[in-house]
Formats: sequence, structure tokens, C-alpha cells
Amino acid sequence: MASRKRVFDLLRTINVASCQCPAHGYRGNIHVTNDTPLKDYAFEIKNSTVRYGLGVTREVGMDLVNFGAKNVCVMTDSNLVSLNPVKAVLDSLTKNGINYQVYDKVRVEPTDTSFKDAVVFAKNGNFDSFVAVGGGSVMDTCKAANLYYCDPEADFLDYVNAPIGKGKPVFVQLKPMIAIPTTSGTGSETTGTCIFDFEEIHAKTGISHTALRPHLAIIDPLHTLTLPETVANYSGFDVFCHALESFTAIPYNERGPAPPNPALRPTYQGSNPISDAWARFCLQTIQKYFTRSVYKADDIEARSSMHLASTMAGVGIGNAGVHLCHGLAYPIAGNVKSFVAKDYGTAPIIPHGLSVVVTAPAVFRFTAASDPEKHLEAANLLGADISGKKKSDAGEILADTILKYMEALKIENGLSQLGYSSDDVPSLVKGALPQQRLLQLTPIPQSEEDLSMLLENSLTVY
Ligand SMILES: NC(=O)c1ccc[n+]([C@@H]2O[C@H](COP(=O)([O-])OP(=O)(O)OC[C@H]3O[C@@H](n4cnc5c(N)ncnc54)[C@H](O)[C@@H]3O)[C@@H](O)[C@H]2O)c1
Ligand SMILES: [Fe+2]
Repeated sequence: MASRKRVFDLLRTINVASCQCPAHGYRGNIHVTNDTPLKDYAFEIKNSTVRYGLGVTREVGMDLVNFGAKNVCVMTDSNLVSLNPVKAVLDSLTKNGINYQVYDKVRVEPTDTSFKDAVVFAKNGNFDSFVAVGGGSVMDTCKAANLYYCDPEADFLDYVNAPIGKGKPVFVQLKPMIAIPTTSGTGSETTGTCIFDFEEIHAKTGISHTALRPHLAIIDPLHTLTLPETVANYSGFDVFCHALESFTAIPYNERGPAPPNPALRPTYQGSNPISDAWARFCLQTIQKYFTRSVYKADDIEARSSMHLASTMAGVGIGNAGVHLCHGLAYPIAGNVKSFVAKDYGTAPIIPHGLSVVVTAPAVFRFTAASDPEKHLEAANLLGADISGKKKSDAGEILADTILKYMEALKIENGLSQLGYSSDDVPSLVKGALPQQRLLQLTPIPQSEEDLSMLLENSLTVY
């Protein structure tokens, strides 16, 4: 396992020696030749097959029969295991004569240790397919379990994003995985990413490769009816930031270099017209339904709409990527001290959506200069009146719009309410630096001083 010193030595080496393109964040040892164009000129959209419909979970058993599955690993967490979403899945498996074993020990906000526990379960099971029923924590754990089950000789860090791990591409054949999300949400059901808290450095990182994408995503809004208010709220802000960050990420044709082989085009490619369409849809849906979906648990229209938006934002981020709010969120979540979130268990946890949105007002004030019109458009899609507004005010207008949502949904007043003070800023910056894959998708280059400023400005937000 990498020592903390090794991680930061690596970081220093990479910052000094490597090309600063996001593509290099996880290419491992693949060499890019000098004749590669400095900027990319193409983007591509990859996605899991998505099936959406009220009650559609009843079909999962038939899907597994169609895959030829005989012995299925069902992954979930200890809370969901006794709730309707898991019950609906197991009913369908039983009706269709599928053998299964349930792993219900997924950790909410997983760590490398909890990923490894799920891998051990998978390795002991001789499974031919996987089904994940839950939020991002469950789906991400299931992707990792599938990967290391199918490559049992791999060292854990082999596949972890560089510079923390080796960022090895996934060439082994993975087992079919079906993802059934129950939050709205991470969009993990369509992405080739799994995120975990790397305990040794107190920051999140992940594994990212297109092969990790679930074969099928079953999007059943009925599952959101049991979502507690806090989870609907925080996971909704994850969708909110996915849409805003993928929409404002560096454009694909300003990121570079172009890959020498299309197979090497990075998963996160920057904003592009197709992911922009997803992001616009999500921002409009958020304007119409987000608050309703949080406060009215039985508002099936609002909850269904946010569930769909979550998957759509997943398609956006799964191809365009996210940037600074997520880059800063990983050490914010990883260094949690004593903040305990209602409905997320009893352990100190800063839920992902909360860790992401808390810096959003500062981040978008900072990035607006890259493309003021797009930042104004985002504010408008979220409900702000931008008529007659100046481009130079774009950052302030978008930040104010975000703050209105945060206030209406009673989000904590900045990092100080999550247990941080100015003294913590240097260690948070250190934890953000390994997130080069995300920082390089930010539309404006940023120094360590900029990151400190963004965190200082997020200590209190109202
Ligand atoms: N892979 C990706 O592309 C991606 C993207 C964003 C975030 N993430 C990761 O996903 C994780 C967060 O996932 P999340 O926000 O979906 O939440 P979660 O999976 O951590 O679940 C949060 C809590 O809500 C409960 N819950 C979930 N669905 C429920 C339901 N329908 N009814 C009742 N309770 C329910 C869970 O039991 C848990 O206690 C983080 O680790 C984050 O880093 C991954
Ligand atoms: Fe996210």
C-alpha cells in the first residue's frame, strides 16, 4: 500500500514532469508521442443501456435469465436490505429461478477497506453476474468487487487513478452487472467510475475505466419513495453539481493532447454539445422539481423527475466529467471530523452531495470568467432572471442562484458548520491536489493559492 510520503512524492513528480492533460490522469504507462495534436478534436459518448419505468425492477430476473446467469451476487447496504427496493429485486430473482447471495455490508461512503471486504465476498462466491441495488455507495462497491473478482491477481492500487495508484486500463473481461439506483443521485449506474475514500491520505479517489460501466441500468422511480428527506436533499445537490460542472467543464476541443489511438481517449473529455444537452435538461428539471422532491416524499412526479435527471446527469458527467466542486469535495469528505448526517448512519460522514455543493458558490464565481455566457445560461436554467445582466456579473449571478437553492433546502452554512476552520485549509488543499483528473477539467487553470482562496471563501456561505 502506498505511504503518504510516496503519494505526495509522486504528486510532486507528476506535477513537475508530466503533461498537464486530463487524459494522463489514468493512462498508466501509455506513451503519447510528440506528433499527437496538442488539442483534441473529437469527443465520444459512451453509456450503459438504460431502462426507465415505474415498477420496471420486476424485469431484473428475466434480464439475468437472458444473460444466462446461474449464480448472482446481489449487493446492497444494511439499511436498504430490509426495504422495498431490495425486496422487489429478490422477488424477481426468485420468480425467475435465479440463485443468488446477498452482500449487505456495503459501507455508506465506501473506503478502500470496505471495497476490499466486498471483493473477498465476491471471490468466495463463484458468481457469474452482479446486481447492485442502492445509491452510489452500493453501485461503486459492486463495480470494484466485479473488477477485482475478475482480476484476482491484481494489486488494489493497480487500477486506482494515478498518481495515487497506477491507473491501469481494464483489459480483463468483467461479469455482467446490473445497477438499480435508489437515490437521485450519483448517476453511477451509467458511469465507468467507482469512488472510495483512501483512508491513508484522507481523501477520496477512484477507479475509472469504461469497462466498469454497468451492462444495464434499471431506473425505477418507485425506489425513491422510501428516500429520507436528507438523502433526497444531499443526493439531489450531487445531481445539481454534476449538471453545473459538466456544463462548465473545459470544452473537449480545448483539452489535449488528442489521443494517438481512439481507445485512449479519456473517459472525462470536457464539455461537449451532447453532454450539454443532458446538463440543460437536468438544470431545468432541478428548477421545477428539486425542492418539491425533497419536501414531499409522496410526490411521485417530482421524485420520478429527479430520478431521471440523476441518470441523465450521469450520462453527462460520465463523458464530460466534473471539475472543481468534486475535486475539492474529496478531501472535505475524507477529512471528516465529527459531522454526523441524519439518515446516513451513526458514523461521522459528510455526504457526497453536501461535500460537493458547499464550495459551489465560490467555485462558480471563480470559473465564470472562462465562459460568462454559459454561466449566465446555467443561472437562467435554474430560474434566475438574466435579462439585461452583464457578462462581468455572471459569476455573482450564478453563485447567488446556487445560494438560493442551498438556503431553501437548509444546507449547512459552509465548511465551518461541517467542522472545519481556516487552520484546516492547507490540508484540504493537499488532499485536493491528487485530484488532477478533475482539476484539469476546470475551465480555468488554478494555483494552490486559488484552491486555498476557494476553501476560505466557503467557510461560511450565507
Ligand atoms: N461512480 C460515480 O460516478 C459517482 C458519482 C457521484 C458520487 N459517487 C459516490 O457515491 C456515494 C454516494 O452515493 P449516494 O449519494 O447515492 O448515497 P449512498 O449510497 O451513500 O446512500 C446514502 C444513504 O441513503 C440510504 N438510501 C439510499 N437509497 C435509499 C432509499 N431508496 N430508501 C431509503 N434509504 C435509502 C442508504 O442506505 C444510505 O444510508 C459517494 O461515495 C460518492 O463519492 C459516485
Ligand atoms: Fe458527485
